[in-house]
Amino acid sequence: MSDYSKPLEGKVAVIFGVANRRSIAWAIAQAWKDAGATLIFNYQGERLKDKVGDLVEAFGEDTPLYPCDVTSDAEIDAFFDKVKTHTDKIDLMLHSVAFAPKEALENEFVSTEREAFRIAHDISAYSLVALSQRAAPMMTEGGSIIAMSYYGAEKVVPNYNVMGVAKAALEASTRYLASDLGKLNIRVNCISAGPVQTLAARGISGFSAMIKHYEANAPLGRSCSLEELGGAGVFLASDASGAITGQVLYVDGGYQIMGM
Ligand SMILES: NC(=O)c1ccc[n+]([C@@H]2O[C@H](COP(=O)([O-])OP(=O)(O)OC[C@H]3O[C@@H](n4cnc5c(N)ncnc54)[C@H](O)[C@@H]3O)[C@@H](O)[C@H]2O)c1
Repeated sequence: MSDYSKPLEGKVAVIFGVANRRSIAWAIAQAWKDAGATLIFNYQGERLKDKVGDLVEAFGEDTPLYPCDVTSDAEIDAFFDKVKTHTDKIDLMLHSVAFAPKEALENEFVSTEREAFRIAHDISAYSLVALSQRAAPMMTEGGSIIAMSYYGAEKVVPNYNVMGVAKAALEASTRYLASDLGKLNIRVNCISAGPVQTLAARGISGFSAMIKHYEANAPLGRSCSLEELGGAGVFLASDASGAITGQVLYVDGGYQIMGM
């Protein structure tokens, strides 16, 4: 029987993508911690070390925190080597990482340059594959891998541009990874979040108009809160979602169902 009051008790999680207290990764980290999980964090480069360090101290001074820029296989390997100094086994991994050059997130998609396309796909989609390669061998008792996506993966959202194409690759990667890793009882799913004000969101031209559009058109009259993303993260990490893999779960006020 699962304990639904502490559904992640005894689970060890690695979390990629905390930049500040508005980060979706931070919301899911807090929810995972409340649900009983032990957490290990990355940070992207020295610039973010102190900021992320101050945040994760809330979980105790010795909360593990290591650098990992996902564009570097060497840094990914070094990160997982550090994880192995704490634990032989991990159960959960959150991928909450995305980037595209600013000029690719304004104007028309047709003007996307080769390098911007490559960078967006490397950081926002391939990284899920690279991280899963290292995480899966440590998920010796099965596991749950969760990545963050957005509706721009399936429909055209103005200015989202190359990030929408990268999210389509991320969602497809989720399905292929779910197929490969199912035999190890490792599940791989995406949460497709409605717009929330974060650092990454600020890079998208016209982002405030997106929020207003959801308020006007989503069945619930709004997008979603960080707390609700945390709750969805707990669900997909826990045994309650034990038969769910390769899926995209929309946490978006219902916006995705609307045709008009
Ligand atoms: N904010 C939204 O409206 C929204 C909606 C749907 C999906 N998402 C997705 O949620 C995820 C988290 O974004 P967020 O909105 O919390 O913003 P955020 O800026 O707080 O998080 C993005 C994270 O990506 C990390 N990152 C970028 N390049 C990296 C690299 N090379 N190596 C390692 N880490 C790198 C940053 O350090 C940061 O921690 C992203 O995948 C984003 O696309 C966001």
